[in-house]
Amino acid sequence: MKEFWDQRYGEAAYAYGKAPNAFLKEQLTGRPAGRALFPAEGEGRNSVFAATLGWEVTAFDYSEAGRQKAEALASEQGVHIDYQSCAIEAFSFPKAAFGLVGLFFVHLPPDGRRLLHRQAVRSLKPGGMIILEAFSKQQLGRPSGGPQREDMLFSVQEMEDDFSSLHLQLLEETETVLAEGPYHSGAARVIRLLGIRP
Ligand SMILES: C[S@@+](CC[C@H](N)C(=O)[O-])C[C@H]1O[C@@H](n2cnc3c(N)ncnc32)[C@H](O)[C@@H]1O
Repeated sequence: MKEFWDQRYGEAAYAYGKAPNAFLKEQLTGRPAGRALFPAEGEGRNSVFAATLGWEVTAFDYSEAGRQKAEALASEQGVHIDYQSCAIEAFSFPKAAFGLVGLFFVHLPPDGRRLLHRQAVRSLKPGGMIILEAFSKQQLGRPSGGPQREDMLFSVQEMEDDFSSLHLQLLEETETVLAEGPYHSGAARVIRLLGIRP
């Protein structure tokens, strides 16, 4: 799979655009900044946006091509991000360190997803938040993006289970229209979550 992502990010265009995800932008704008972590961050659109709001950003992904484009985007926008080339399975999540963990379209097989979500929760400070958007299982067969494997797509019930220790300020499945570069484009069904660690 790493080769798949390196190939996608080797294309000239930013696969999901240079602008942040709309839900992240809506949720983050106006909040006080702190330390943020963006796992599986691809070409950097969300972490760079957070950095422009004053967040001290750590991001990682196993795609080297993704890292190069993320660093180019950061320098284009005049901000710094600490972006590590690292697999989710190898990343050492610090405990209680972050005010924000951003999880955007990180679609893994169920065991990997549960483990990532557990580690993301543990790495939040009390009062820290997870902001997440990913494709719903209802997205299966639609051409606007996402893996074509039901077990890698998300449901509200799975999110309630994965994030049961958080105070869920928002958890919804919604129909939206994505305009996020060539690979997230058109009518889509997504899950959105904002959860706060007590
Ligand atoms: C759909 S892209 C989303 C990228 C980014 N979060 C965004 O929304 O723009 C999924 C990303 O997950 C990364 N990824 C998938 N499995 C991974 C793993 N095991 N370790 C690290 N990165 C992984 C891929 O390289 C890819 O960048």
